[in-house]
Amino acid sequence: MVLGHEISGEVIEKGDDVEFINVGDLVSVPFNVACGRCRNCKERHTDVCLNVNPTRPGGAYGYVDLGGWTGGQANYVMVPYADFNLLKFPDKDQAMKKILDLTCLTDILPTGYHGAVSAGVGTGSTVYIAGAGPVGLAAAGASQLLGAACIIVGDLNKERLTHAKRFGFETIDLSVDAPIPDQLHQIVGVPEVDAAIDCVGFEAHGSGGEAQPAVVLNTAMDVTRAGGAIGIPGSMLGRTLGRPRKPPSTAISPCVLVSAGQNRSRSTPVRHP
Ligand SMILES: NC(=O)c1ccc[n+]([C@@H]2O[C@H](COP(=O)([O-])OP(=O)(O)OC[C@H]3O[C@@H](n4cnc5c(N)ncnc54)[C@H](O)[C@@H]3O)[C@@H](O)[C@H]2O)c1
Ligand SMILES: [Zn+2]
Repeated sequence: MVLGHEISGEVIEKGDDVEFINVGDLVSVPFNVACGRCRNCKERHTDVCLNVNPTRPGGAYGYVDLGGWTGGQANYVMVPYADFNLLKFPDKDQAMKKILDLTCLTDILPTGYHGAVSAGVGTGSTVYIAGAGPVGLAAAGASQLLGAACIIVGDLNKERLTHAKRFGFETIDLSVDAPIPDQLHQIVGVPEVDAAIDCVGFEAHGSGGEAQPAVVLNTAMDVTRAGGAIGIPGSMLGRTLGRPRKPPSTAISPCVLVSAGQNRSRSTPVRHP
C-alpha cells in the first residue's frame, strides 16, 4: 500500500467531466475521499461518504481499510470527484511561498479545528486538550481563533509541553503524580473546564507510561463541566478501548455532549487560506 494522506500539488491532467478545476491549478487535497453527492456528503458528513469504499462508509488516501486509495507518498495521485475534493489555492504564487505550511490544510489543521468546534469552544471558553502532538497543537490554535479564554494542553512528553508553552498555552504534565482536576483547579480556579478535546485516541498512556486506551476519554468525562462538550478527533478506528467494533461505551456520560469522527475539511472555513 502507498501511504500518505497529506497531499498538495499541481493538477497535470483532468477527466472529461471535471468542470471547475483546470490543469495547472495548485490544490490542497482533503484526506478523506468523498463523492459530494450521497446523503452523508450532502449533510456535510464527508468522513462517512457512502460511495468511496466498497467495505464500509468513508474513504481516505493511503490508509488501511479506507477504500484502498493510493496515498500521497507517490509521484502522481488520482483524485476522484475532483470538483468536490480539490480545494484550489486562489493565488498560486502566494500559495507557493507558504506551501509547506499550507500542507497542514489537508489534515492536521482542520482536524484540530473540527475537534474544537465539536467541543463547542467559543468566546470565553476554558478548554482542556489531551495530547500535545500536531493535532493537539492545531486544536489549541483553533481554540484560540474561536475565542477561548484559557487553553490548557496536557501530555506526558515534556519537550512537547515546552513547545506548547512557547505558543502561550497553559500546560499540564501528566507524568507528574497529581490528579488532573487538581492541576486544572490551579490554573482556572475550578477542577473542570467548558470543553475537552481528545487529541490522543486509543494509543493513550497512563501517567506511568503504560497503555491505557480509555484514559483520555474517561479523563475528559471527569473534567468537563455538566453541559459542556467533548470533541474526539483522536482515532478509535474500531479497536476502541479493547472492545473491537463497538463504540466506547465505557466512556459515555449522559451529562456532556460527545462528538467523534474524522475531520470534515470541507465544512471548516479553510477554503481560502
Ligand atoms: N479524526 C481525524 O480526522 C484525524 C486526523 C488526523 C489525526 N487523527 C488522530 O489524532 C490523534 C493525534 O494525532 P497526532 O498526530 O497529534 O498524534 P501524536 O502521536 O503525535 O500525539 C499524541 C500525543 O498524545 C500524548 N499522550 C499519550 N497519552 C496521553 C494521555 N493520557 N493524555 C494526554 N496526552 C497523551 C503522546 O505523548 C503524544 O504526544 C491520533 O489518534 C491520530 O490518529 C485523527
Ligand atoms: Zn458521498
